[in-house]
Amino acid sequence: MLSVEDLKSCYGRIEALHGVSVEVRAGEIVSLIGANGAGKTTLLRAISGVQAVSAGRIVFEDRPIEALAAHKRVALGIAQVPEGRQLFEPISVEDNLKLGAWTRRDVDFKAELDPVYELFPVLFQRRHAAAGTLSGGQQQMLAIGRALMAGPRLLLLDEPSMGLAPILVEQILGAVQRLKQTGLTVLLVEQNASAALAIADRGYVVETGRVVASGAAAELLADKRVRAAYLGV
Ligand SMILES: Nc1ncnc2c1ncn2[C@@H]1O[C@H](COP(=O)(O)OP(=O)(O)OP(=O)(O)O)[C@@H](O)[C@H]1O
Ligand SMILES: [Mg+2]
Repeated sequence: MLSVEDLKSCYGRIEALHGVSVEVRAGEIVSLIGANGAGKTTLLRAISGVQAVSAGRIVFEDRPIEALAAHKRVALGIAQVPEGRQLFEPISVEDNLKLGAWTRRDVDFKAELDPVYELFPVLFQRRHAAAGTLSGGQQQMLAIGRALMAGPRLLLLDEPSMGLAPILVEQILGAVQRLKQTGLTVLLVEQNASAALAIADRGYVVETGRVVASGAAAELLADKRVRAAYLGV
């Protein structure tokens, strides 16, 4: 479904991605793990089109997209849940969700909101509340819901578990698994490697702008180097 080939990306003169290749097949959850500053966010933003690339290719469903504007990639079926959620805090939960559908014409809001509220019932209960008044976990649910409103086939998730208590991490990643069951494909970035690999089909380990290991999630979870570096065991 998605093929990232030898991708490079820079901040000014500093190269943050040194030729990264990653593949995501339809129906998979693929987890990208790595330490602070490894380049995970840069890669996700390059895929969604809000970060410029200096070399390499990004192919989505057989179409090269690296030159397409971000909103066109959304229209093709790629939606990103950004690091830090980036909600519109003063406006209501429901209006944040509706904003997620801004690239779509003739949207039937009710038909689109219903599955989001079904996935996260607490968002329905709090639909009239300002987004900024939600708890951290609820805000993460809202950020995911807003991305779903774009009608994606590929969801890019940047550290959804960040700052959340273990029970909420479980809830959020459980929701990601349910989304997979509905046919959604997911590229999940996490520093929480064990949780991310536990729900993934495959994974990639990123270190300082390079992929240093990849494989079936179960293999990575069992890999000695990965365990020592990222699982603390
Ligand atoms: N806006 C920026 N300007 C300059 N350098 C940046 C910028 N954003 C990121 N970088 C650098 O690019 C590299 C990759 O950063 P990136 O944010 O992609 O890492 P990450 O893996 O997402 O880290 P984290 O786990 O902390 O979110 C780091 O060296 C970082 O310092
Ligand atoms: Mg990041």
